[in-house]
Amino acid sequence: MQRDVIIACDFKSAEDTFRFLDLFRNEPRKPFLKIGMELFYAEGPEIVREIKRRGHRIFLDLKLHDIPNTVKKAMAVLSRLDVDMCNVHAAGTVEMMKAALEGLTPAAGTRPLLIAVTQLTSTSDERMQRELLIDAPINDVIVKYAQNAREAGLDGVVCSPLEAGMVHEACGREFLTVTPGVRFADGDVADQVRVTTPARAREIGSDYIVVGRPITAADDPVAAYRRCVAEFCD
Ligand code: C5P
Repeated sequence: MQRDVIIACDFKSAEDTFRFLDLFRNEPRKPFLKIGMELFYAEGPEIVREIKRRGHRIFLDLKLHDIPNTVKKAMAVLSRLDVDMCNVHAAGTVEMMKAALEGLTPAAGTRPLLIAVTQLTSTSDERMQRELLIDAPINDVIVKYAQNAREAGLDGVVCSPLEAGMVHEACGREFLTVTPGVRFADGDVADQVRVTTPARAREIGSDYIVVGRPITAADDPVAAYRRCVAEFCD
């Protein structure tokens, strides 16, 4: 498996997105992009098609979480967009994740990678206990959710890079860890809690890092992207 950097395109419109992507026009490495709720809800499925036409790989990060039948049908619709990766919340249960996989798998041809969110990287142990009444330590919750995702047949999980090692230990090296919560050593953490640097994410064993603001809000986004690639991939 080839490690890669995924840029989180958390923009409010197609216009902002393409202004950003134009900066990468001469970049030899075409960035793998993540389209999240903000952009997808603003622009609809057409934004996915347009970005695909430009030749980018796409992680469609809509984090589905509903009853199994609804998720299955929604995934069948998303499957037609022919993205490279999409996701659900592991908290939706093994049955929901199995349904998602069924909905995503076309009768013929390949399906996108399907991964599950374990615990959001903005969640802390304390919030989990106080607000969600989950008393188990956060690491145990993450490993259990990852094992559930594996049992359901998914390809991997979204987790903090700090958790990538223990997820691989519990679920195998081939089980993917896609990790947001990445910051440069000299950068701003913002609302993320369980963070680390691209270089450390690589050492711990992340397969993909998802990087938003450290690239999109940088003075020079292309230089910030290159710095991530140099630290994480090369
Ligand atoms: O700007 P920043 O690098 O914090 O962006 C991280 C991206 O990863 C955001 O799009 C966020 O929604 C997403 N994400 C996350 N934590 C998760 C799952 C997704 O930060 N557990």
